[in-house]
Amino acid sequence: MTRLLHRAIHGTPPVAVGGKGMELFDAAGKAYIDASGGAAVSCLGHGHPDVIAALHRQVDKLAYAHTGFFTSEAAEELAELLIADAPAGLSHVYLVSGGSEAVESALKMARQYFVEKGQPQRRHIIARRQSYHGNTLGALAAGGNELRRAQFKPLLIETHHIDPCYAYRLQRADESDEAYAERMARQLEDKIVELGADRVIAFIAETIVGATAGAVPPVADYLKRIRAICDRYGILLILDEVMCGAGRTGTFYACEQDGVVPDLVTLAKGLGGGYQPLGAVLLSQQIFDAFANGSGFFQHGHTYMGHPMAAAAGLAVQRVIRRDNLLANVVAMGTELEHRLLERLGNHHHVGDIRGRGLFRGVEMVADRSTKRPFDPTLKLNARIKAEAMARGLIVYPMGGTIDGRLGDHVLLAPPFIADRSDIGRIVERLGAAIDAAIASIPASSRADG
Ligand SMILES: Cc1ncc(COP(=O)(O)O)c(C=O)c1O
Repeated sequence: MTRLLHRAIHGTPPVAVGGKGMELFDAAGKAYIDASGGAAVSCLGHGHPDVIAALHRQVDKLAYAHTGFFTSEAAEELAELLIADAPAGLSHVYLVSGGSEAVESALKMARQYFVEKGQPQRRHIIARRQSYHGNTLGALAAGGNELRRAQFKPLLIETHHIDPCYAYRLQRADESDEAYAERMARQLEDKIVELGADRVIAFIAETIVGATAGAVPPVADYLKRIRAICDRYGILLILDEVMCGAGRTGTFYACEQDGVVPDLVTLAKGLGGGYQPLGAVLLSQQIFDAFANGSGFFQHGHTYMGHPMAAAAGLAVQRVIRRDNLLANVVAMGTELEHRLLERLGNHHHVGDIRGRGLFRGVEMVADRSTKRPFDPTLKLNARIKAEAMARGLIVYPMGGTIDGRLGDHVLLAPPFIADRSDIGRIVERLGAAIDAAIASIPASSRADG
């Protein structure tokens, strides 16, 4: 009996009672390697003593002061740290309590920017299919996952979607990476022209698509082309790095590796590492100046924005990452993870693609490798893999609807940045066994090799 409305009503999840390093423990005493950091959150693992000590110090000093009256040392210091590491041009930080709030804030900042500049006719947001930007109504409207949107459609603001840069499914066999990147980016230009360039506010995309498509990175110079198109038509580029940012790919901002600076970038998840609910929007000097020289304030706000405890958690997490040079470990262990995945699953009958960057990797499952045919979605392969992994003491983040919101299955891996080689070995070993067991539980007639 539970009084909680759980994510799934039928079936009660195990009770988590503790965590240390790479592992979580349930009330029955079972240990799980947290190979996805929940949903790419726990970048420092669990129970990190330095973060816990920082939170104790903060709560002893100040738990909460409303940002309508005060700022706090922790929030100011976190903003300094984020801007010190940010790509040139990003100048200010807006602190919120999670990813959806960050996306909502970024969308509203983009709209208000044009109102401040005397262009109130701008109203269109362009995004990509198969993206996920959060579950609040604005973020859900921007997101491109049909399954998540379907029943709420009557409540969603109008948005427009182009294809994602999803090479495994959408790149033609005879097409070079450059030609594919050009073709995908051109969709943005066509959409802007169709809507009228002076009516578009922004294009929003995940630098690397996370939850709904499984760690899909951009191809060749796709993002540079996107940046150039936004500049040509005077629209803002919002990169959603709620999942892929904060070091997950080996650089603090994933877009650094693509040589692109957005006008707005969202962060959450790994920013606070799960020690407190925390999200952020970084905005460019140009946007800040438009607000400063215009109405003088951003018409938005939440009771818990800039929360001192959340800021203290983010600050502590980020200081540990820098002190312990953990992004170098993300790069090294990311390569190790890629190699181990290729070794164990690269020739697997039912693995179509292994992709990603750093400690952010996706494995796309297929019924038939030669045709890339997905499994029948009613088989719920992703749920079977999750259950088999948990039975083996492994947390991974499998999801269905990879291709179009309905078809396709993938597994997302996002282990903590503290992982070492033996952790990576154990993760891949357990994942391989879980995948094999999940496939074996499916009737042979539904598999190409059956
Ligand atoms: C890219 C991206 N944006 C936004 C969100 C929403 O974040 P939250 O669940 O913290 O509201 C998520 C969550 O998975 C995400 O992956």
